[in-house]
Amino acid sequence: MTHHVSVKDVTADLLRQWEHDPYNLLQILIGVQQTFQHISTTAVDLIADKLSLPRASIEGVIGFYSFLHVQQRGLYDLLMSDNIVDQMSGSRELAGLLARRLDVKSGTTRADGAVSLGYTSCTGMGDQGPAALVNNRALTSLTPQRIEQIAELIEERVPLGEWPQELFAVSGNIQRRDLLLESDLLQGAAIDAVVSRGAEQILSELEESGLRGRGGAGFRTALKWRFCRDAAADERVVVCNADEGEPGTFKDRVLLQAYADRLFEGMALCAGVIGASRGFLYLRAEYFYLLEDLQQELQRRRDANLLGEDILGQAGFDFDIEIHLGAGAYICGEESALIESLEGKRGIPRIRPPFPVTEGYRGRPTVVNNVETLIAAAMIAVHGAEWFCSRGTDDSAGTKLLSISGDCARPGVYEYPYGVSIEAILRDCGARDVQAVQVAGPAGQCVPPSEFHRAIAFEDLSTGGSMMIFNQQRNLLNAVENFADFFVHESCGLCTPCRVGTTLLQKRLRKVVSGHATSEDLAMMRTIGSVVRESSHCGLGMTAANPILGSMEKFPGVYSEKLKSTGFEPAFDLDAALDEARKITGRDDAGAHIEGGGV
Ligand SMILES: Cc1cc2nc3c(=O)[nH]c(=O)nc-3n(C[C@H](O)[C@H](O)[C@H](O)COP(=O)(O)O)c2cc1C
Ligand code: SF4
Repeated sequence: MTHHVSVKDVTADLLRQWEHDPYNLLQILIGVQQTFQHISTTAVDLIADKLSLPRASIEGVIGFYSFLHVQQRGLYDLLMSDNIVDQMSGSRELAGLLARRLDVKSGTTRADGAVSLGYTSCTGMGDQGPAALVNNRALTSLTPQRIEQIAELIEERVPLGEWPQELFAVSGNIQRRDLLLESDLLQGAAIDAVVSRGAEQILSELEESGLRGRGGAGFRTALKWRFCRDAAADERVVVCNADEGEPGTFKDRVLLQAYADRLFEGMALCAGVIGASRGFLYLRAEYFYLLEDLQQELQRRRDANLLGEDILGQAGFDFDIEIHLGAGAYICGEESALIESLEGKRGIPRIRPPFPVTEGYRGRPTVVNNVETLIAAAMIAVHGAEWFCSRGTDDSAGTKLLSISGDCARPGVYEYPYGVSIEAILRDCGARDVQAVQVAGPAGQCVPPSEFHRAIAFEDLSTGGSMMIFNQQRNLLNAVENFADFFVHESCGLCTPCRVGTTLLQKRLRKVVSGHATSEDLAMMRTIGSVVRESSHCGLGMTAANPILGSMEKFPGVYSEKLKSTGFEPAFDLDAALDEARKITGRDDAGAHIEGGGV
């Protein structure tokens, strides 16, 4: 919001800070965006010139990320979180109130340039919503009173730094601790373990522990680290995936806020094992509020010789960590897209193989792990495999952090041993009268009450950690529609089945919701869904049809009660299409309708 500084000076400073390195382009653009609420032609020209990049490629990067803009945004750029759980707690109504109060339409900037209003995908505050972002700073627990207060602050042009701090308060909200969160970890103990016991010892401990990735795919961590260690290279890289973009999940936020020390310990451990000298924490833009504390934590660790050169006095053990910010793209959580983004480019998933473990960041062998995985690895290095295996099932050792939100008395982060049933979780978080639980976000499964005996585990309900609860009063189709919209918005557009298929599914679903669909539409959704699932390039497309296909299978009644007819009817509903004409002419008599609707 600083407008008395010049674009030229700020851009020059950012270019210097990021070492005039084209691989840092995205970070430079984010810096410009944060200072001026847009990236002007002047800034693009300067960057193009200094980094010797074509303007078009810079514009391509800006165009890819939701939080970067070439058009000036309002001095206060407000984005309401559009997660279904935020909606259930009234975000749409609050956005309406804000729009009226500030006289600005959603999706626009007010003529005087003071404020812009819009929506964004889940901001990772599902346990304390409705939430929003103002110039990338998280606003939580919004109420009509708070909206009034915010509107006043904006009208009076109060700088964000002077807004009451309680508006930005993010509670840790850990509701249940188990092995990982309850046990101690002395600073430096995991690094000491690799220095004193050697990489092979740590790898076999990790192998024995059975640790699998906590970010969703469940790949064996020891195997990933070994592949990377075995890849011939001068430099290797450790990346922590803190993109946490899956709607309904926020457990990494809590870990980054309360357990950053353990995370950095885990990254340094990984570096010691695989022989990496560079580390990155890829932090989603929505968690910008954590950046300063994380930087301080890194500095404390450098001061304690737990980062930097000759770590813990071990000659040649050099490793440091940089933090890179994302800019509002869910696809950047996919590991190869994340690496592209770390390299300053658009976050488009790479063709694999080669996999990141052999060719990742700038072609170097790279380990990408979730926040929770790296913390678990650090704990295992110190407490041992047996300690870890004291919880969980045969195929799913240890515990899992779940982000629980929606219709329950106590939303928050819960750590459970793998194998815990949905039933037990619902009891603990005070959920009653439950109609469905969405496990693993929009890409996951919608579980009906008849299956609440099922377990959270890789061999049953596998999840990165999101769990959204819907009670009997909720219209499940609203959730399915929200998820379908999410995938349309977040598809990176590289491949046709995903780009086109997600839009086709969204359109058919809207037809169902509006009561104009027939059983033909359901059949068509099944066909399109299976094409999208089978022929998409990456995990986003492969799972984008899940909310529709899954809910059609598990909750057929939700669809059948909305159908216009279960027999054959053509896809095009002429009567519905004439709605607009009726509105314009002000007619709604029998003569303005077509009997039967379809043609
Ligand atoms: C569309 C998409 C989004 C993803 N988002 C995340 C994410 O936000 N965080 C994460 O840790 N993994 C995410 N993943 C999984 C990563 O690709 C990768 O498997 C993971 O970071 C590996 O770490 P892990 O083995 O510790 O789980 C995503 C995958 C896909 C396909
Ligand atoms: S499946 Fe979708 S998100 Fe993945 S690469 Fe293709 S278009 Fe992009």
